[in-house]
Amino acid sequence: MKKLMAANWKMYKTQREAKETIRELISLINDNMPSEREILIFPPFTSLDVVCNEIKEIEYIHAGAQNFYPAIEGAYTGEISPKMLLDVGCEYALVGHSERRHIFLEQDDLLAKKAHFGIDSGLKIIFCVGEKLEERKAGKVEDVLKEQLKQGLKKIKDVSSPEKVLNIAYEPVWAIGTGEVAGEKEISEAHAIIRKELRSMFGTQANNIRILYGGSVKPENADSIISIDNVDGVLVGGASLSAKSFSKIIFA
Ligand code: 13P
Repeated sequence: MKKLMAANWKMYKTQREAKETIRELISLINDNMPSEREILIFPPFTSLDVVCNEIKEIEYIHAGAQNFYPAIEGAYTGEISPKMLLDVGCEYALVGHSERRHIFLEQDDLLAKKAHFGIDSGLKIIFCVGEKLEERKAGKVEDVLKEQLKQGLKKIKDVSSPEKVLNIAYEPVWAIGTGEVAGEKEISEAHAIIRKELRSMFGTQANNIRILYGGSVKPENADSIISIDNVDGVLVGGASLSAKSFSKIIFA
């Protein structure tokens, strides 16, 4: 499995800025893309089309949506469907990001619907999990991660085929946007818990599921994070906004 180097641009970048960043990134990679890695960019909705157009000839870069609503179409003001995302050339989507869980109060049932509907519609899903600081302090990391996976993935039965692709991102809430990165031991333990739970849910199919780490990944720490056991990629926020810094992470 190729390592997935993913950039979550969150609510940053106009179309012009998105185009400049993606062009700069491609020129920095300059045909030196490591063959065992691939890149995934999550622009805001308004820049998805621009980014998809810039990368359509490049097989090692993919685009994803930060959000969608689990219906084909309908009276859902303000929402975007998987069909619309696939239409602009978007292949992936995030579900369960901690900002969706905590700022927009998305609950397990909605997340389960999104994960299932997204995969069924042909989107590759990155399902995010992660504990809050108080949960870690209370020794609840394992319980929280298992419960988030059990609840969020309960409708998904098949993750074995190239059309039904699930990835997980472990993003401890206390490490997102704080500059506080989880230590090697914490990452390795959390990823092992996730892998074990995925095996109990999906059997040997769990081996097809990549587990990414996210939370204050920077050029300075990407090297050690990407070499940890069971880390199959990274999901980068702040440090992915600059093409220079994200390209350093890609080459870490
Ligand atoms: P930061 O890299 O800014 O901590 O954000 C992580 C994140 O939320 C990626 O989805």
